Amino acid sequence: MNSLTKLLGWVDDRFPLTANWKAHLSEYYAPKNFNFWYYFGSLALLVLVLQIVTGIFLTMNYKPDASLNGSGVPVAFASVEYIMRDVPWGWLIRYMHSTGASAFFIVVYLHMMRGLMYGSYRKPRELIWIFGMLIYLALMAEAFMGYLLPWGQMSYWGAQVIINLFSAIPVVGPDISIWIRGDYVIGDATLNRFFAFHVIAVPLVLVGLVAAHIIALHEVGSNNPEGIEIKKHKDPVTHIPLDGIPFHPYYSVKDIVGVVVFLMVFSAILFFAPDMGGYFIEFNNYFPADPMKTPEHIAPVWYFTPFYAILRAVPTMFGSQFPGVIAMGVAVMILFFLPWLDRGAVKSIRYRGTIYKVALTLFIISFVGLGYLGVLPSTPLYTIYAQILSVIYFAFFFLMPWFTKIDKTKPVPERIPD
Ligand code: HEM
Repeated sequence: MNSLTKLLGWVDDRFPLTANWKAHLSEYYAPKNFNFWYYFGSLALLVLVLQIVTGIFLTMNYKPDASLNGSGVPVAFASVEYIMRDVPWGWLIRYMHSTGASAFFIVVYLHMMRGLMYGSYRKPRELIWIFGMLIYLALMAEAFMGYLLPWGQMSYWGAQVIINLFSAIPVVGPDISIWIRGDYVIGDATLNRFFAFHVIAVPLVLVGLVAAHIIALHEVGSNNPEGIEIKKHKDPVTHIPLDGIPFHPYYSVKDIVGVVVFLMVFSAILFFAPDMGGYFIEFNNYFPADPMKTPEHIAPVWYFTPFYAILRAVPTMFGSQFPGVIAMGVAVMILFFLPWLDRGAVKSIRYRGTIYKVALTLFIISFVGLGYLGVLPSTPLYTIYAQILSVIYFAFFFLMPWFTKIDKTKPVPERIPD
């Protein structure tokens, strides 16, 4: 027995290291037919780690302070400029973090899309989906609060618009807005609390939720592009699913391929277009926050724009934006109920009928279209487009119990076809 094996034995007597390695990696049997769409869970994990590590280094030089320095520039804004110009490799760390935020949403949206295609949210994976949705909410809060920190014009005015939405809630709304800001306007108090939430409170919640997400996944086992439950057919002697392969080495190696390709694309964006022409960092955010100067056009970052477009599409009622705020809230929260809205006889799109395929395609068009409209300044024509797309968006969910039931599905094979 060499000394490493001895050390492992020593650890195993005190901590279930080998047992966990086996349960979650070398003897965790995943369906043998994972495809492209199954890269995005591990990529989301990678981006989470990237964001935490780059965030730690940013925090070493960033200062959450709205007061003006000797040159009349807010300290927070100046500290980001300092990171970009004077801190060794600071520009790289900052751009990795800001581009990483958009990468996170791209990866998570594709990950959710896979769930919609293969019915991964369906029984027995409802809790995996619910943890996923909680992660999505936490991620939105994390990104929203992070965007205030550079204290640029868009940080300031974007946060102003979003926090003001709470004022639209009848009776208690205005007080809730003041409570969130900690002031009558966005100021130093807001910046400090957003910093506290962004660097520690929300990341802790996120990491905890991701752990719960994966524990739930490993309890029931992964779905797959066929939507067939591999646990139904096990080897009578070994009890290993006949259509399963050990996660390690098969999928650990496959995921590394995904990581390499992802890092190539990520680096290309990072080095050649870190602000993506104003989509990842808006141009107005290169100007320090000025409470006296409202930018002509205020729009949130792209990952929020589908919901922002829904907000703007709903007409005001007696001058109040409340109906729009409700519609926007429902647009996000309805996703939680997907496992119960879908009454289809099969999980995977491969065995669904034409109705579901058309419905899902229309839904994707509406989501992307709303996202695009949300970036543009609103005009009467764009508002009509946004209203049509919003109706399609909601119809997908509200009509789902009906159209999934009448959809003509194909018979699902017992075993995963070769
Ligand atoms: C930080 C964000 C997230 C991380 C790190 C993460 C991680 C993972 C990982 C590693 C897997 C297994 C590998 C795979 O199936 O791709 C997985 C599966 C899954 N995730 Fe996530 N996830 C995240 C966000 C979400 C969100 C926002 C949702 C949906 C609302 C979601 C829903 C699911 C579902 C339904 C599965 C099971 C898929 C299947 O077996 O077909 N996840 N996740």
